[in-house]
Amino acid sequence: MKAVIFDLDGVICFTDKYHYQAWKALADRLGIYFDEIINNRLRGVSRMASLDIVLERAERAYSQEEKDAFAAEKNATYVELLQQMSPRDLSDEVRETLNALRAGGYKLAIGSSSKNTKLILSRIGLGDFFDAISDGTNITHSKPDPEVFLMAAEMLSLDPAECLVVEDAKAGIQAAHAGGFKSAGIGEAAEHPDCTYPIASFGELKKILL
Ligand code: BG6
Ligand code: MG
Repeated sequence: MKAVIFDLDGVICFTDKYHYQAWKALADRLGIYFDEIINNRLRGVSRMASLDIVLERAERAYSQEEKDAFAAEKNATYVELLQQMSPRDLSDEVRETLNALRAGGYKLAIGSSSKNTKLILSRIGLGDFFDAISDGTNITHSKPDPEVFLMAAEMLSLDPAECLVVEDAKAGIQAAHAGGFKSAGIGEAAEHPDCTYPIASFGELKKILL
């Protein structure tokens, strides 16, 4: 193993509550029921695929133009909420583990579906930290498709077999497996049958890799 490719949301930092608030504001405005259980289904899913899940409970169908406007509205609310994030939102455990892996000689990359990846990394003080960033802005297929991780490996000039993917979403474990990567899964991702290393906390990566 020569590199680690980290999912962002739910692995490096916790943006779930901001996604929830932003989708909830849109759903409330449209009179559509939305709760935290539905929000859990949006983990690792692209923005437009998330919108389709939110609209499952709508009473009418919406045109593509309306859906594009809804996605933009949700994202504007979300980006506004992200302004609250600061380096305090990076836990000591994550910071120390990242530093230990780097000191151990690993290349470190991000593989995230989010188009807000670079904004979030800069808010938490990791804007210049990673060796490669593959995100929602450079892919055409979202997880469970492996594209985002394959692009990260290519940016590092490494083969998938040389990179460990770290994920909190089942769709992310499926993506890693489909791309030929081993994976470490946190939370619900640890329960996926294709997860190579189920872990209870981020710091356990040191036990696997060092
Ligand atoms: C993923 C999140 O990282 O990014 C999803 O887990 C989110 O919940 C997706 O929908 C897309 O994010 P964004 O920032 O491009 O809307
Ligand atoms: Mg995630």
